[in-house]
Amino acid sequence: MISTYGMKYLKNLRNFEGKIALVRSSLNVEDIKNSLRLEKSLDTLNFLKKGGAKIIIIGHRGRPHGHVSKDFTLLHLMPFFKKNLTRSIHFFDHFNPRAIRAKVKKSKNGSVFLLENIRFNIGEEKNDKTFAHQLAGLGDFYVNDDFSTSHREHASIAAITKHLPGFAGLALEKEIEELDGVMKRPKKPLVVILAGGKAFDKFSVVEHLYDKAGKFLIGGVIANTILVAKGEDVANSVVDHKLLPSLKEKHLRMRKLILPSDFIKEKNKILDIGPKSQGEFARHIKGAGTVIWAGPMGFFENPLYRGGSEAVAKAIAKSNAYSIIGGGETSSLIVDMKLENKVNFLSTGGGAMLAYLAGKPMPGITALEKR
Ligand code: 3PG
Repeated sequence: MISTYGMKYLKNLRNFEGKIALVRSSLNVEDIKNSLRLEKSLDTLNFLKKGGAKIIIIGHRGRPHGHVSKDFTLLHLMPFFKKNLTRSIHFFDHFNPRAIRAKVKKSKNGSVFLLENIRFNIGEEKNDKTFAHQLAGLGDFYVNDDFSTSHREHASIAAITKHLPGFAGLALEKEIEELDGVMKRPKKPLVVILAGGKAFDKFSVVEHLYDKAGKFLIGGVIANTILVAKGEDVANSVVDHKLLPSLKEKHLRMRKLILPSDFIKEKNKILDIGPKSQGEFARHIKGAGTVIWAGPMGFFENPLYRGGSEAVAKAIAKSNAYSIIGGGETSSLIVDMKLENKVNFLSTGGGAMLAYLAGKPMPGITALEKR
């Protein structure tokens, strides 16, 4: 559970007209069409704009590790913000604090600026004090609205809060409220569905939630890896060999794990769960009080291997369970299937949601709490 002791919320902030707000938004997005992250960033930005703040939006794309690269520019977001926030948004393609501050100071209240990928700066991922200080110098207050990166101890997430008053943005607040609510008081039985890649992160969630959950429905790489741990042959399927030794001991004690009983394969490689498993998973979902889902069942980018994920999505949409779905791929499937209104909450977090569910530290949230 997340401690929010002493956290200040943007929604309670008044009288910030003319002040410069530095807003960390969830911008790690390739395709700007139907992007949940971009859509969810708008409430906070509009709230600040209406209140007359001058807004500098900060975010990252990909993992450029301190190198400037055209492949990771945030310039591709400009059409989205122009269309949905303000036509007159300005893009800073450099990080020259003095020049940025001067231009923003001179601007009209309600002006909006987008900073180039913050990870082009070497200090960002190092949570570097000097860089955080420079960044903080651009604004009068700071807003973290990026749950999806709050599991990273980076300068624009963590160290920056040492220099400026910090607030939880509207999207971040909602994420905390939803995830915390479901962890504190899940309507039982809690069914956790974990699939996709990143088997290690998924297994950490199993371990952390084992006592709380009634069942875990398992697919993807983690399912393949457990099958190998049980001594089964998965031929050419993707397996997490690093996780295998610890799984060999642990899975035997884990009776709540439900594995698929049939698969869709090509050239002896598991690419999706089969029809029998789809039915079994749907039955477990029907009986759930709460469902949490992260990760597609199969290689869903190919329509041939989407059946498992679609069956799970439909079963969740049909059920009366309180549902929380996270991860870029899983959430975009829900959006593609036009089922957003049939689930209770779509999290912007992929790794962040898993980290939260696995009880791992969330530096972006702790940093706000400490202020
Ligand atoms: C995400 O896309 O999940 C977040 O932005 C975090 O990105 P990262 O895993 O590169 O830190």
